[in-house]
Amino acid sequence: MAEARIGLIGLGTMGAALALNIAEKGFPVAVWNRTAQVTRDFAANAGDLAPQVIPTESLAGLVAAIRPPRAIILMVPAGDAVDQQIAALTPLLGPDDLIIDAGNANFHDTDRRAAAVGGARFLGMGVSGGEEGARHGPAIMGGGARADWDSVAEVREAIAARAEDGTPCAAWMGEGGAGHFVKTVHNGIEYADMQMIAEVYGLMRDGMGMGAAAIGDVFARWDQGVLRSFLIGISATVARTIDPESGAPLLDVIVDAAGQKGTGRWTAVEAQHLAAPVPVIEAAVMARNVSARREERAAGLVRFGAGPQPLTLAEGDLEQALIAGKILCYAQGFAMIRAAGGQFGWALDLPGIARVWRAGCIIRSDMLNDMARALAQDADRNLILAPLFAARIEAALPALRRVVTAGIAAGHALPALVAGLGWFDLMRTARGTANMTQGQRDFFGMHGFDRLDGRDLHHGPWAGAR
Ligand code: 6PG
Repeated sequence: MAEARIGLIGLGTMGAALALNIAEKGFPVAVWNRTAQVTRDFAANAGDLAPQVIPTESLAGLVAAIRPPRAIILMVPAGDAVDQQIAALTPLLGPDDLIIDAGNANFHDTDRRAAAVGGARFLGMGVSGGEEGARHGPAIMGGGARADWDSVAEVREAIAARAEDGTPCAAWMGEGGAGHFVKTVHNGIEYADMQMIAEVYGLMRDGMGMGAAAIGDVFARWDQGVLRSFLIGISATVARTIDPESGAPLLDVIVDAAGQKGTGRWTAVEAQHLAAPVPVIEAAVMARNVSARREERAAGLVRFGAGPQPLTLAEGDLEQALIAGKILCYAQGFAMIRAAGGQFGWALDLPGIARVWRAGCIIRSDMLNDMARALAQDADRNLILAPLFAARIEAALPALRRVVTAGIAAGHALPALVAGLGWFDLMRTARGTANMTQGQRDFFGMHGFDRLDGRDLHHGPWAGAR
């Protein structure tokens, strides 16, 4: 008997949490996992929610359990697994049935799948918030045909996080891969936020000799102010946590090599294609890659000697540096989204995106409320020029400069903070230095240049100089 409102394939951490979220909101959910025992265990452990969970042991069984027109969420690892799952599923579906890829897909794949999936409809849905978000309310970024997005409005709005004003943090971003594109930029910003926090942590640990618990206390204080956010909050908790095995601060026993699944890199690569610079995100991706090269770093220390040296910085300066860095990073991220809208023909709603990110997702923060308001006033203006953020940058900039210059002088690696500052200084330079670049290009390649005086001499008199 077809009794499920929706289906879900893939009962890994995120899929299982999302299925329970759906069930809890009162929607019967049919579930299937490639390994049947995983499905059975999931259903057996669903507790009070078990009556809403319909375990199935085959794809055909899953399809049969869902009321038509069917909606089926895929929560399988991004990449080939998604293509394989779609190929296996589509022969069992009708033209009104809907496949929803809720993994961290590359948006180019989503565009391709949306165009290629025959015999069914297709949505690409970015879901953020980790396991906790998936279970109790993620932020949801949808892409595909608007009518398909609307067809799952009831379930989507029930399971999404809610902002303080009660609005569900779920929005349609545009056709095709728009939802996964916005989720990718979200993750790029996530990398950058995390890297800047890590850089400031490094200054406190290696420069100021502070222990993990004291650093945790600093983050906890900042979590009461302008920086209030999920990532600052968990940084306080991570720093304060004691390792049950050794009794030492947990941070001190974690290997300093960061993993990644690729979304940050995709953001950086796509930004390059769009000529919409996101240097803070690029620096964060670079730092993760360097972090993984532990042996080379160790060899670098042996050859070049002592790493970061002691320094003294005011806690308030570190906080302000992070505030400035965060604003600069988000200004870059939103500018990239703006550029993508033009490039891919998506009517991307920038204030709407900031609103979706206010709750449920990993980069949720109080500051996103202000960003949503600033973008609502003028979505085409760079965020650094919005009055509130211009004033905040002005106030925080001296501290960012003090932190960066002191840090660099003492040999600390601060690639993300430095990248933010470098971008900002370029962004407020009316007479830049690219005239030199243009002169060089014309010298060696006759590429030509424009003249400030408007005369139409487009090449330099290089004949005698070559
Ligand atoms: C989220 C997260 C989530 C996951 C990313 C990051 O928004 O819930 O971004 O999607 O944590 O995949 O993963 P990596 O750090 O491994 O790239």
